[in-house]
Amino acid sequence: MNFEFTEEQVMIQQAARDYAQRELIKDVIERDTHSIYPTAHVKALAELGFMGMLVDPKYDGGGMDTVSYVLAMEEISKVDSSVSVIMSVNNSLVCYGIEKFGSEEQKEKFLKPMARGEKIGAFLLSEPEAGSDATSQRTTAEDMGDHYLLNGTKNWITNGNTAGTYLVIAQTHPEKKHKGINVLIVDRHSPGISVGPHEDKMGMRSSDTHSVMFNDVKVPKENRIGEDGFGFKFAMKTLEGGRIGIAAQALGIASGAFERAVKYSKERKAFGTEIANHQSVAFKIADMAVKIENARNLCLKAAWLKDQGQPYGYASAMAKYYAAEIAMEVTTEAVQIHGGYGYVKEYHVERLMREAKLTQIYEGTSEIQKIVISRQILSEI
Ligand code: CAA
Repeated sequence: MNFEFTEEQVMIQQAARDYAQRELIKDVIERDTHSIYPTAHVKALAELGFMGMLVDPKYDGGGMDTVSYVLAMEEISKVDSSVSVIMSVNNSLVCYGIEKFGSEEQKEKFLKPMARGEKIGAFLLSEPEAGSDATSQRTTAEDMGDHYLLNGTKNWITNGNTAGTYLVIAQTHPEKKHKGINVLIVDRHSPGISVGPHEDKMGMRSSDTHSVMFNDVKVPKENRIGEDGFGFKFAMKTLEGGRIGIAAQALGIASGAFERAVKYSKERKAFGTEIANHQSVAFKIADMAVKIENARNLCLKAAWLKDQGQPYGYASAMAKYYAAEIAMEVTTEAVQIHGGYGYVKEYHVERLMREAKLTQIYEGTSEIQKIVISRQILSEI
């Protein structure tokens, strides 16, 4: 077993760290406070090759492995998860979904601009009444012969307004339940699409979250990915990889808060000494470190399995579940170590705590991950 990273992986980690610590940090509080979309940062990350980092170079991607992706996601998320979620959805849901399951024509037309970061993708699965229960899709894709007619509403869509390309999951044959669901590649500017107001979120406030409404939107038949009825399996397979990205994001949130708490504990004095010298604080630091190390190992294991071409859905659910849970615990402790300073924006840890909460909710709640994990164990028995 080899715990060492390759030279290339270390370089990618360093590049992400440099960008996050030099550039993202400058205006992160302002962007969070006023929900300002990070346009310039998305462009800069595209230039660094991070928006399509997992895509094969023959489709204009960076050709990097999933381990490198975890390392980059952790570094970006230490500073700003509003940016890393844009990167994650584009890479591991939209680009991956088209690269893995799309036709050559779809890859040429839709994947390449997203791999270059010229366009951003969005993944439209959740609905007002279909969040965790993803089989209950109400959005319909009616088969009209040479095209589909899309009608319905999607909720909580990351990149909902800024995306150029949507992957829309919709029901074509309701009598077949989840086996009647399709996935369509949709141009965001097609007639009949309207986007709701920006959601005023608790955390990750500068990422672009909207409802998206479809009213008789025509989608060419050639924009369907896979066979008729493949949409639900497509969503489940794609989410397996998406969860590695969000696990790495939760890991980054935790390690970002941890680094700040350690630094603060060595500077802040109380009762005549740095607070790190008080066992009540030192023990918290030890607990946080162990949790982060465990989460990192789970993330890297899931990424490694994916890179080896082995099944990784169980490992990614474990990584996502555990990293999100400890992100909430670690950020809460980081705020506690900072005392009153932790509760104000300037010290960043309150924002990291708000961001951590979302990782327990999106791309499948912690409870959904427990379903995936327990079903696998019980089916083996
Ligand atoms: N790979 C392939 N197929 C899979 C699969 C997987 N990982 N998981 C399930 N399936 C298949 C099953 O084999 C089954 O197929 P058959 O009928 O042919 O046997 C079919 O899908 C239905 O499976 P289940 O009976 O297990 O379905 P279920 O209704 O019990 O639900 C679930 C499974 C795990 C709870 C699923 O609904 C789920 O993951 N829900 C959460 C959805 C989610 O993560 N939403 C996040 C939205 S995206 C987002 O947040 C992005 C963003 O913007 C940041």
